[in-house]
Parts: sequence; C-alpha cells; structure tokens
Amino acid sequence: MKRLMRLFIYRPPDATGFWRARANDPGWFSVMWANPAYNELAHADQWSAIERNLPAHRDAVLDLGCGTGRLSGRLAELFNRYVGVDLDTMVAEARRRNPALGAEFVSASAQEYDYPADSFDMVLSMACLASACRADEFPPVAQRIMSATRAGGKIVLIDPFHRFPALVRTCRLSAKEVIGVFTSLGATLDEWSAIHFIPSRLIFARRQLARFQRLTRAGYRVGESICRLAPRRLGDYQVIALTKK
Ligand SMILES: C[S@@+](CC[C@H](N)C(=O)[O-])C[C@H]1O[C@@H](n2cnc3c(N)ncnc32)[C@H](O)[C@@H]1O
Repeated sequence: MKRLMRLFIYRPPDATGFWRARANDPGWFSVMWANPAYNELAHADQWSAIERNLPAHRDAVLDLGCGTGRLSGRLAELFNRYVGVDLDTMVAEARRRNPALGAEFVSASAQEYDYPADSFDMVLSMACLASACRADEFPPVAQRIMSATRAGGKIVLIDPFHRFPALVRTCRLSAKEVIGVFTSLGATLDEWSAIHFIPSRLIFARRQLARFQRLTRAGYRVGESICRLAPRRLGDYQVIALTKK
C-alpha cells in the first residue's frame, strides 16, 4: 500500500546522499542505469541531442553535474575550456577517470557553485538539475546559469522534468515550467523534444534485464520509435535547448 501511495504522493528524496554514494560504482553504472545494453543506446541518443545543440562559438563549456566524467573528454575536445561541477565524491572519481582534465573539475553543488559571469558558450545539465534542485531552488539556479552564459551561448538541459509524482526525481516542475523560467530571464527556446520512452525506461534499464541484451536493444529501439510520435508526453528525459540573447 505504501509503495502504491508513493506513486501518487511526492516526497523529495535525499538526492545528495544517493549520488555521493554512487560515485564508486564501476563504469557508467555510477551515473546511468544497471543494464549496460540500455546505457549504450541511451548514451548515443543523449550525445546526439547535445551535438545538434552545440553553439557555433566554442570557447568554454560548463558541465553541471558532470558525474564521473562520462561526457567530459568528448566535450573537452569540442571546446577550448571544459569545467565540470559536481558533488565531492563524483568530482574525485571524475578526476581519477580523466587525469588530463583533473584541474577542471570543481567540487560544488549546482546551488552553491560560484558561477563566473559571462564565461560559458554552453551550459549543459545532462541529468543533473532534475535531481539536484527542489522546485523552489530552480529559479535562482537558472538565474545564475543565465548570468554565467555569454550572449549567444546555449543552455542545454537533458533532464527528467516531470510533475507526476511517480516520475519526479527531485525537481517537481514540468518541462513547460522550466522553459518558462528561462524565457522569463531572456532566453529563447531552440528545441523542446524528449528521449527515453517512459515504459521502456522503466522496464529495460533494470538490472533484471541486463542478461537479455538483444531484448533490451529491441525494447529500447521500439520504445524510441513510439516516443517520436509524441516525445514531450512520452519521453522521460526532456531535451530543452535555449539561447541567451
Ligand atoms: C544521472 S547523474 C548524471 C551525471 C553526468 N551528467 C552524466 O550524464 O554522466 C546525475 C549527477 O548529478 C549530480 N548531482 C546531484 N545533485 C547535485 C547537486 N546538488 N549539485 C551538483 N550535482 C548534483 C550527481 O552527483 C550525479 O553526478
């Protein structure tokens, strides 16, 4: 009964404790799900959402919630300067896994990071802000992200923003509300789509399915084809790309 109630009643989780404890999980398990076949396909779709929203001018990128550095090397190749911000245990592991970028990882929460003004051509939240902030913390963080973004720079959020309690991580805001916060601060919307069909995400990302790689791949692909019919409603991860005017 309690489990059923949890689907309908939202209680903010202890996101910081949860993520700090996961930093030492091997490979992508530290930042993704427990089924490697699902992770590989999800990673490719997440990266293609980033790639199609890269800014024309690529001096500096801020990777908010960089985790153990899954995307750091690739982003660092595309920009002159890479900065990754995350909780202490994640940053320690990111440094260990990306020794060449060690100095560019900053241990801070998204709420408390000292955002330098007018410094980044792209600010990325790849599955960070929906876990990191409560809804009331989101507008001030968005304000700081906007001030850290250079004019003409991109803000790219690939995050599970939802209002329905069973899907909410920490931030109980819809994608539309998140977009509203940024546009009210002067950003323009370039893309709003979504990836990771919700039922496939709930079924195939699970550890129990890890033994069934072909089934996982088929389930993922069929799911994404369905998701493309109405992505904003059917996708778990909302892809929101904005430009600071
Ligand atoms: C799903 S993982 C994604 C990591 C990385 N962006 C990636 O895609 O591989 C979510 C990340 O958000 C980080 N996170 C959670 N709460 C945070 C907070 N308050 N401030 C900064 N990062 C936070 C976690 O530590 C974790 O690394």
